[in-house]
Formats: sequence, structure tokens, C-alpha cells
Amino acid sequence: MIKKQEERIVSAMKKKIADAKKADTKTADAKTTELKTAEPKAGKKVSTRKAAGTKPKKEEKTAGREEQVFAERMAKYEDELKWLYMELYDNSSMYAELCSKMYEFYMERNKDLKASDAERAENPRWYYGNDMLGMMFYIDNFAGNMEGVRGKIDYLQRCNVNYIHLMPFLESPKGRSDGGYAVADFRKVQENLGNIEDLCRLTKACHEKKINVCMDFVMNHTSEDHEWAKRARAGEGEYMSRYFFYDNWDIPARYEETVPQVFPVTAPGNFTWLPDAGHFVMTTFYPYQWDLNYRNPRVFNEMMYNFLFLTNCGMDIIRIDAVPYIWKEIGTSCRNLPKVHTIVRMMRIISEIVCPGVLLLGEVVMEPEKVVPYFGTVEKPECHMLYNVTTMATTWHTVATRDVSLLRNQLDIVNALPKDYVFLNYLRCHDDIGWGLDYRSLRSQGIDEVAHKKYLNDYFRGYTGSSNSRGELYNEDFVTGDARFCGTTASMCGIERAEAEENEAMLDSSIRMDQMLHAYMFMQSGIPVLYSGDEVGQLNDYSYKDDPDRCEDSRYIHRGKMRWDLVDEIETKGSAPERIFHMLDRLEKLRRSLKAFQTDADTWTVDTWEREVLCIARASGDEKILGIFNFSEHDRTAWINETDGMYEDLLTGKQMKAQGVDIPAYGFFWLKRLPAEG
Ligand code: GLC
Repeated sequence: MIKKQEERIVSAMKKKIADAKKADTKTADAKTTELKTAEPKAGKKVSTRKAAGTKPKKEEKTAGREEQVFAERMAKYEDELKWLYMELYDNSSMYAELCSKMYEFYMERNKDLKASDAERAENPRWYYGNDMLGMMFYIDNFAGNMEGVRGKIDYLQRCNVNYIHLMPFLESPKGRSDGGYAVADFRKVQENLGNIEDLCRLTKACHEKKINVCMDFVMNHTSEDHEWAKRARAGEGEYMSRYFFYDNWDIPARYEETVPQVFPVTAPGNFTWLPDAGHFVMTTFYPYQWDLNYRNPRVFNEMMYNFLFLTNCGMDIIRIDAVPYIWKEIGTSCRNLPKVHTIVRMMRIISEIVCPGVLLLGEVVMEPEKVVPYFGTVEKPECHMLYNVTTMATTWHTVATRDVSLLRNQLDIVNALPKDYVFLNYLRCHDDIGWGLDYRSLRSQGIDEVAHKKYLNDYFRGYTGSSNSRGELYNEDFVTGDARFCGTTASMCGIERAEAEENEAMLDSSIRMDQMLHAYMFMQSGIPVLYSGDEVGQLNDYSYKDDPDRCEDSRYIHRGKMRWDLVDEIETKGSAPERIFHMLDRLEKLRRSLKAFQTDADTWTVDTWEREVLCIARASGDEKILGIFNFSEHDRTAWINETDGMYEDLLTGKQMKAQGVDIPAYGFFWLKRLPAEG
């Protein structure tokens, strides 16, 4: 029965491909570059059946097996995919085209990637291990270009990293790129960074060293230089319908009533007037980033082909950029609308069919109740992983207030979620810190949102007495009083100020804080991701102010060139890079050696009866560990009372009780329970 169904799917696929090929030559769309399925590592094409009685060749057998695998996956998901697609688009020929393209991309996927898909399908929790450690970086900052990154694989291994996030590298116009988040061609690498062949070589080299590669898929918008945008601007109706074009302000005005602004200062409003085209176009982000209209099935299909093209270049993780924004409806905030989830679910199904080894990482920079739905449900999952963004912001709130209570609540919320949900934990990333905290809780403590944001922004600029932090505001909105914050971990911990003032005591305390924050981040449930440069305590880089293309965007303060001279300093005993790098190295190796650090281990917080001290416990089987973190510049005692045996301090090897633990200023402990004696 199942066999019959699979055979039916294979022959239907072949017919769809033939039909789509015929249709391709007819439609205007076929002329767009997007429809090209150029894949440098193309595998075998579908074989044509031999006449009965002749012996099939080896390649034919392989192709037959591959078709079989595709058909099995298709059989598993086709009903749901078709249902979702038809519900959204009610367009069966576009659906047929999608399926045939999926088949083509599947057949073009190279054998190594298919083997990895198969291996991961056997062990779908392959990324739940205690060895997962990410690092994100800009290719040019880190190593000049893609070939340069290939030459730095040894360094990545030295950092214990087995997952790299290559920041946006696709073609994007200089000066109008939003750090690469305005893509002009989804199948072309920025010339200064390399080309698609270099990308494939890089992913292959990473895979040989068991390093996973992640990239951004910027699906909410294209650059105004994208071919579709150019043709839309020139008045071609087909392409205008791929964006939101209006020849008067009526509809934009209605959107503006309910849609908040992403960049209220650097790019106010959600529409841009195009004088040459005589139209407004929707631009939620910068004016040169045109929102795609996913009501048009052509947009969805073509973007899925781009997605599959990129996964076939060897991506292991696809970061879906700005995913909450991809569906728009008048009268709403145009964020997190139900149809966003339909699209993400379809994307998940498409990858489960074509490239099941690929993980989807959703970028949802929102409060926890908005983030969690992007995991989907256990039966109908959407993203594999999401950023733990509220925890990150709450961490810095804790640094500034020396009060762990809000952080503890936040960790309790995350820890109470199903263990299948995998979060990415981080201290800093390429973006600003928006102070998205749980203000409902803070209000109950008498803390007002606007005043508190102001306090945090003052604190991290080093304006209040007890702060040594350095950094800058981002998108300060004088109307609402809102502002976000930019700076590197090391500068926010005080290392920049301490070095500038040659203050040894301050430097020591800042390094300790930096180490403690990393130790705490590694203790959280999920996968830790380092921001490149943090492993050697890289400071803010103010050179962006001299660059006319960047000076308006203070996020570049923490997007400086990798300071390889700091890497050289790792060997200099007592230097900041040495102290940070070696501490991280020890923690990363310990983390890998203990099963209590698996992503799906039980994780909970323990009351320390001390406002400034946080305790996180983790357990897997009979292995239990405790992490105790002092967020204060004063020595403190964690009044914990774990009476279940003796513990070992994992850093010194000293045996101790986990009761009334004295903990130095900005210090931490990682304790492991010892097996009961006798
Ligand atoms: C994401 C990126 C951010 C960019 C925005 C628009 O939020 O992280 O850097 O500005 O998308 O693409």
C-alpha cells in the first residue's frame, strides 16, 4: 500500500518536473535569476527508466534509492503541506511547481549532505549534546574572506567551537546593506568575501572537522537593488505584486496607525516614497529594505527555492531573520500573526523532506510568550532553536541592579518549558540590547519601565557611580524616551575603562565579572553562542564613527575587526586575553565532560537567600551540578543548603559542602555532587 503510494509520488514528481520545465519556458517568471537552480555540487539527475529486461546501472540504482527516500518523506508530509499551502494560496499549479522544485533540489543535493541528513534522521537529537558551542562572526572582520575563514578552522577548534554563524555574506549594496541584511541576490556571495564555490568549500572543510555552519536567511525583505525590486520600481506589475506598493497614502496611513517602528530614529515609519515610481513601498526596517509580500505564492515559492539552494551549499543551520514580521495585515501590529506560523511550518516540512539534517533557528526578539510559539507543537514543530533573548537582556539588568530576582524568575520560566525546546544562550550578539524585560514583575517592585530603561542606559554608559561599563545608545527615541544599548561584553564589564585608567584592581574585578558571566551563560539550559572576540575580551571599536556608511549606526561599535593581536596575548600570563580565554577553555571542556550539561538535562534555580547571588542546578541521571554566581563587587555567601552529599569544586578539585558557600566578589563556583561513599 505504502509502496504503491511512494511509486505514485515518484512518477507524479517526474511528471511535475516535466510540466514545470515546460511551464518555465513559457512564463515571464522563468526569466528571473531566482528560478535558476544552479547548484555547483549538483548530484545525479533523475534517471530515465531502462527498457524491461536490461540490467539497471549502478547510478540508476542509486538514483532509484534516492527517489525512494524522497517519496517516503513526501508521503509522510504531503497531506499537511498541501493543506497548509492550499489554505494560504489556493493555487494548485503553484503547489505542484513547489513540489517539483523540492524534488529537483533534493536530487541535486550532494551525497555527503544526504549522508549527513540520513545520520541525523537516525538521531534527531544530534544537537542536544553538551559539546555544542557556537561562535558568530562577520567573515571580513574575522578573516578577510571565506578562504580566510577556512584558514582559521584551527583557531575555531582551539576555541572548542563546533558551530559557526557566518554573519550575512550574500550580495548587498555597499552603504545600503544594514550589515548584509539587505540582500540583492540570494545566490551570490559578496565579491570581497568570495563566491558560492568558496562557500561550498568552506562548509565542506568545516564538516570534515565536525563544525556546523549557520547562515542568515533574510526572508522578510530584499534590498532595493534586488532584481525584483528593480523591476517593481520600473512599473512591472508582476514584480510590484511581490512587494507592498501603493500609489497614495490611504493604505499606508492605516498601517501606520497600528504598526510600531523598528528604527524610530535611524529609519522612522514603515513606508518609503519612491518619487521615480510614484509609489509608496513598505519598508519596515531601512528604506532600502523592501518588505516581501507573502500573500503572493510566487514570493513564497521563490524564497523557498533560495532557501533550498543555500541549504544545498552545505548549511547546517538556517537563521530565519526577523521571522515575526513576514506576514502583514491592516489593523494589526504586523508581528507574530498566525500566518507567520503557517509559513514557518511549511518551511520546516519542506526542509524535513529535502534536507532533514538542517536546523531552523528563529530570530524572534520578543517577550517569552511571543517567542515560544515559534517552536510549534510537538506534533507540528516549527523552529528547532530560538534565541533566549529575554534572558540575555535580563542578565545585563542583573549586572546593573545586583538583584538576581528577575533573572531567577526568567530562568524558571525557561526551565519549565518542555525539554524539546532548545534555546541559544548568549551574552552579546551583533545587535543592540533592547531592554525587553518583564516590566509587569518590575512594576510590582515599584520599578517604572521608562525610568528603568533610562537607568540601564545610564549605567552601561558608565554614568552612575558604581558602573565601569562603556558603550553607546542606539536609536534613542526622544518622543518615547526609549533607547537600546550597544557595547562588547568586555567593555560592558569594565575592562575598557580599567585599561584606559590603568587601574589594576578595576581590571581584575572586570575580568572576574566577564569570566563569571560566561560561566553562568554556559550553565543555562540550551546551546551557548560566543560573540567572536569575546573569548579574548575584545573592547568597543569606535572607528565606525569615521566611516560615512556606518557612523549613523552605533551597533558597529561592537562589530569591530577581530583583534588577532589579542589572540597572541593568550600566551601572556595574567593578561586579560589569557585570563578570559583560558577560563572559557576550562569551562567549555568541563561542560563537554559532564552529562548534566546536555541540553535536555533537568535545570532549575536554587534559592540563595542573597539578593546578589544566583544558583542554578542541573541534573542528568544521578549526576548533579550546581552553579553559583555572585553578581556583586562584594564578597557574599550563598545560603544554599543542599544536604544530598559532598560536592567537588570543578575548577580547583576541592571537596566541600554545598551549604552556606562563601563566594568572592564577581566569583562563581561550578560544583559537582560526589558519589555517596560506601
Ligand atoms: C535582524 C538582524 C538585524 C537587522 C534586521 C533587519 O533583526 O539581526 O541586524 O537589522 O534583522 O534585517
